[in-house]
Amino acid sequence: MRKKIVAGNWKMNKTLADGIELAKTVNRQVEENSVIVVLCTPFIHLSEVNKVITKDSLFLGAQNCSSEASGAFTGEVSAQMIRSTGADYVIIGHSERRSYYHEVDSLLNKKVKLALENDLIPIFCCGEILKERQAGNHIQVVKTQIKNGLFDLPVEDFIKVVIAYEPVWAIGTGVNATAEQAQEMHKIIRDLIADRYGNQIADNTSILYGGSCKPSNAKELFTNPDVDGGLIGGASLTSSDFMGIVNAFTEI
Ligand code: 13P
Repeated sequence: MRKKIVAGNWKMNKTLADGIELAKTVNRQVEENSVIVVLCTPFIHLSEVNKVITKDSLFLGAQNCSSEASGAFTGEVSAQMIRSTGADYVIIGHSERRSYYHEVDSLLNKKVKLALENDLIPIFCCGEILKERQAGNHIQVVKTQIKNGLFDLPVEDFIKVVIAYEPVWAIGTGVNATAEQAQEMHKIIRDLIADRYGNQIADNTSILYGGSCKPSNAKELFTNPDVDGGLIGGASLTSSDFMGIVNAFTEI
């Protein structure tokens, strides 16, 4: 069965104390039900936030991992180190990593493999920039990102991966993709997975939407048949907004 997931990506926000406070509130408010909630915190928060998580449906994630397993890579954090904090998830290929840190598909493919080797579930991000959509290239761009990042995985690894479609023009802009735009791309992604891995695997893959998702539009987005949840930026920084999104999902 395809999992429903709402993941918060705190990005580079929150002091350690503020992060622990937010995690405590979310932990208190999360209800044990069919929605998986993930807090993707900065590295330095991981082990402390892990200590406050008591609910079975609340999980911990990182926002990135190194493309190398270990060794002399100053400033990097490995998948194994992330796993050792108690985290279960790691975001890979966020558009901010792709654009500001020039992370290309081949590097992201290495990160995905290291995450999987270390029992972390990759939340693999894809999405086009505005120019690409305006030029009508958005479908090709997203397909290429997914093929290059994921499609050399054997099926037993691919089934562990979560995909997040985040159109870059919708991230932090207040302009979300419409429900139709999200559904269209999610269906295209699912069909692409079906071509590579078969219908059953495609059916069981969780595909999240990200980009200006908020309590007021979450239900409309999540109601779509191929939208299995959200990757939430700004609105994950306050418990009321974040839980508003989680709860919108449980109403569907
Ligand atoms: P916003 O929700 O702030 O648009 O960010 C989305 C995002 O980038 C989540 O990874």
